[in-house]
Amino acid sequence: MSQVVLGQPTVGEAELAAIAEVFQSGWLAGAGPTCRRFEERFAAAAGTAHALTTSSCGAALHLALLAAGVRPGDEVVVADFTFPATGHAVLWAGATPVFADALPDTFTVDPAAVEAAITARTTGIIAVDVAGLPADYDELRAIAGKHGLFLIEDAACAAGASYRGRPAGSLADVAAFSFHGRKGITSGEGGAITSDDADLVAAARKLHNYGIEPAISREGTHELPVPSVDELGYNYRLSDVQAAIMNVQLDRLPQLLAARRHVATRYGELLKDLDGVCIPVEPDGREHPWQSYLLMIDASLGRDKVALGLRERGVQCTFGTYASHLQPLYGTTTDCPISRDIFRRSLAIPMHANLTGAEIERVAETLTDVVTSLS
Ligand SMILES: Cc1ncc(COP(=O)(O)O)c(C=O)c1O
Repeated sequence: MSQVVLGQPTVGEAELAAIAEVFQSGWLAGAGPTCRRFEERFAAAAGTAHALTTSSCGAALHLALLAAGVRPGDEVVVADFTFPATGHAVLWAGATPVFADALPDTFTVDPAAVEAAITARTTGIIAVDVAGLPADYDELRAIAGKHGLFLIEDAACAAGASYRGRPAGSLADVAAFSFHGRKGITSGEGGAITSDDADLVAAARKLHNYGIEPAISREGTHELPVPSVDELGYNYRLSDVQAAIMNVQLDRLPQLLAARRHVATRYGELLKDLDGVCIPVEPDGREHPWQSYLLMIDASLGRDKVALGLRERGVQCTFGTYASHLQPLYGTTTDCPISRDIFRRSLAIPMHANLTGAEIERVAETLTDVVTSLS
């Protein structure tokens, strides 16, 4: 039986040609000239003054926290409905994640829950653009400002999204993107930080290279500058081979967004009246990049049964993302009832820029059959 795949990158000859150029240049390692070129272009696309490429979004979040000054003993309020990288990054920085519940319509963090979670130990907030849809940044910025906290945008899935006319990546003090294979633009693995804060990005740049200014900053000098190492950094570099792929992916972004939007629109038309299934929303003033298409399945049908029914018929699908407070690692007693509910009911169906009209219709018809048979 043929499969309709859940996610698929759009890569081809142009990416291969860009990789060949990097091979010829001899600079395959990270933090080189191709990374620099991509960083300039990516910052412009995100509407920020600076960008730094990283090996993953998890690395970008970790660097953002460290550069924002998070220290052991701090608390950081984190959107509960997210991939575990968001909470993990807080633990990596030696701080404690305090999870805040989601909103039932957008699945992004509830600003009221964020404010309620703030204590005397809180130093920052991480909001998440769920499936790419930006959170309520006007409210979140106001809360962060009122309490003197930094605000991080986990924009892992949000390349190309916007909020009230501003691009994802520019919506908080600093943002973290993922270029993992299931994201809207990808180099297989990878990530980036975007920010207007030159000092923060400079601090992150040093930390992403073992605490040493990247070698490219010493290129062209006739001296022999030998850096001294005064802080514990990491190897969180993106390679220039990956940056070459990202340069082409960035060129493709408008076309990829349009293709995903077409898929979302068709799904909306085909599924809006299906009982027991709720389609995702795109609130006014926000542009969804449709990294994933998350349905909510009524508890009476059972999300898992619907998922197995789809898989049996060759339609790939998976759960939405995690309710962080339920993950044993974090050992938290916080309750986030909305996030828990959407964690149990969410279903991601095929979403990528290469889906054909026939595949979209097959997904919708199969889902309708499975849901009808369970009703
Ligand atoms: C919201 C969110 N944050 C962070 C990550 C981690 O991204 P990476 O795998 O690039 O570290 C993901 C990955 O799916 C994510 O969805």
